[in-house]
Amino acid sequence: MQQLTQNVRLFGNGYFNYYLAGDEEAALIECGTSAGAHIFAGQWEAFKDKPDVKYIVILHSHFDHVCGLPILKKLFPSALVVASSGARKILSKEKAMASAFNSDHAVSESYLKAGFIDRLPEIPESGPIAVDVVVGEGDRLLLGDNLKLDILDAPGHSACSVAVFLESDGVLLASDAAGYQSAPGEISPVFFQNYDFYMATLKRFQNLPLKVLGMAHGDIIQGEAVRQYLRQTTKAAEEAFAWIKEDLHAGVDEEQISQKVFKRYFKGGLSYYPADIMYSTMKLLVTNVKAKL
Ligand SMILES: [Fe+2]
Repeated sequence: MQQLTQNVRLFGNGYFNYYLAGDEEAALIECGTSAGAHIFAGQWEAFKDKPDVKYIVILHSHFDHVCGLPILKKLFPSALVVASSGARKILSKEKAMASAFNSDHAVSESYLKAGFIDRLPEIPESGPIAVDVVVGEGDRLLLGDNLKLDILDAPGHSACSVAVFLESDGVLLASDAAGYQSAPGEISPVFFQNYDFYMATLKRFQNLPLKVLGMAHGDIIQGEAVRQYLRQTTKAAEEAFAWIKEDLHAGVDEEQISQKVFKRYFKGGLSYYPADIMYSTMKLLVTNVKAKL
């Protein structure tokens, strides 16, 4: 556990981050995978001064951000599950969630193989996930006497993405909406929904008074590095857009471009994910550049 600011603490293994906002009443932000939630559960057990977790907040519906929910719900049975309306729709689907938990299982096996966990996590139930509170732009979760968590719509990575902004602490929890930092200084652009929306979201983040940028994966960005990171991630997306566009104009086969995208951006913690799923996801970068030509 790491205390990030007065009201925000960090848990997780770095490949997947969990954020706890609040001292007495709290919200757990991000759900991760079963393997990630299993690691979180161990950390939680050792954590003293446990607050009353009122909310579990899902920031978008991709499998590595939702499949930890059943384990988290077992830890916090009375917590309300919070997500966007887009996420709620996807999480209610039998077929989508069956495939999500398949990918989740593959991550558990990779984590076991890598020694991040010593046994496969026990999943209380896998299937559709019920959302109790639907949130979107302008909504606010209140904790304790005066802690406010503002919800911002953050499209571009996925249509169902939201971010949490704690103005009191200058903290933005952005999930995957601000890119994927695979190594220090190396950012994979992840405009899987729409390039323009992704860039608009980044621009909006640049105008917020931020001291801490907490994403779902990788290091926490703090202080002056926040501005720098947001510039770098914008540049990474612009560069990806430019070279994919160039290849498309030059008539390079789309499958070949997708392979190139995959090779270049499938790195770091992503390598614990099922390669076939990630390949079809990475292909969306090519689709989304093509949509703008
Ligand atoms: Fe994602």
